[in-house]
Amino acid sequence: MVRLEGRDFLTLKDFTGEELQAILRLALKIEGARFPPKPLKGKSLVMLFQKPSTRTRVSFEAAIRQLGGWPITLGWGETQLGRGETVADTARTLERYADGIIARVFRHRDLEELAAHASIPVINALSDLYHPCQALSDMLTILKHFGKLKGLKLAWIGDGNNVCHSLLLACSKLGLNMSVACPQGFEPKREVLEEALKEASTSGSRIEVVREPSTAAFAADIIYTDVFVSMGFEAERERRIKAFLPKYQVTPALFKHAKPTCVFMHCLPAHRGEEVVDEVLDGPQSIVWKQAENRLHLQKGLLAALYGKA
Ligand code: CP
Ligand code: NVA
Repeated sequence: MVRLEGRDFLTLKDFTGEELQAILRLALKIEGARFPPKPLKGKSLVMLFQKPSTRTRVSFEAAIRQLGGWPITLGWGETQLGRGETVADTARTLERYADGIIARVFRHRDLEELAAHASIPVINALSDLYHPCQALSDMLTILKHFGKLKGLKLAWIGDGNNVCHSLLLACSKLGLNMSVACPQGFEPKREVLEEALKEASTSGSRIEVVREPSTAAFAADIIYTDVFVSMGFEAERERRIKAFLPKYQVTPALFKHAKPTCVFMHCLPAHRGEEVVDEVLDGPQSIVWKQAENRLHLQKGLLAALYGKA
């Protein structure tokens, strides 16, 4: 029995493969509906952003309106949070006005704190640890492109960061194989990897961390990368660029190791010429714009699931 109504969406860890499949199905159903549902009619959702955003902010605002709701978007520093009001007190206040909180934060702990003190759903719009809306929406993109998820191989090239963490959980729960190639010291966090390995042992997917990009890319269906310097890590820029370049840059040469049908994915924004070259990002194998579009469709499915059906 899949019950998603009223739940928080902080990490994919909290959801079974079956529940994630249900959200994907709902997203596809709403996208294809002649008369899309309005499960957010009369509801408002507060969106709090502690970091910049283009895709997440605009796709959520559009999704909320398309489902009949009302987004209230605020920068973290525009609220009293910027003057030291606690996250818990903010949560206790916001739950009295709104029906949900969508937040992009530096510390994942702050999302947990919001969720602990608000009785309304809290959705992770990216934290230092996870980016679940991105990863689940990437599963929607892969499903639409390949017509299946199980048994495909995703090669992650670069930093074992928040997007990588959520993809590890998504792949291991949905039966995709994932090979992460990263320099020493930039591996995914041990607890996330352990969780993914545990899930993989039941779903049958293979999860591994390797050093060589060509090993990860071998027979891959998807080559995926992200920036080497995530938001909040700007002070480490020099050290990171030294560790990642040139070895972990995605170039056309890397695709020679992959299947001929291999596609390129990137959560965006891209730093062209760093983690990926223009020829790949703008090339025929790139599906990054479809990927960006699917953020809207997936989030509509997610909101419909959390607010009670399509
Ligand atoms: N991929 C993603 O989350 O993009 P934004 O930072 O523009 O929201
Ligand atoms: N890893 C990146 C993702 C941006 C959408 C960051 O956290 O900045």
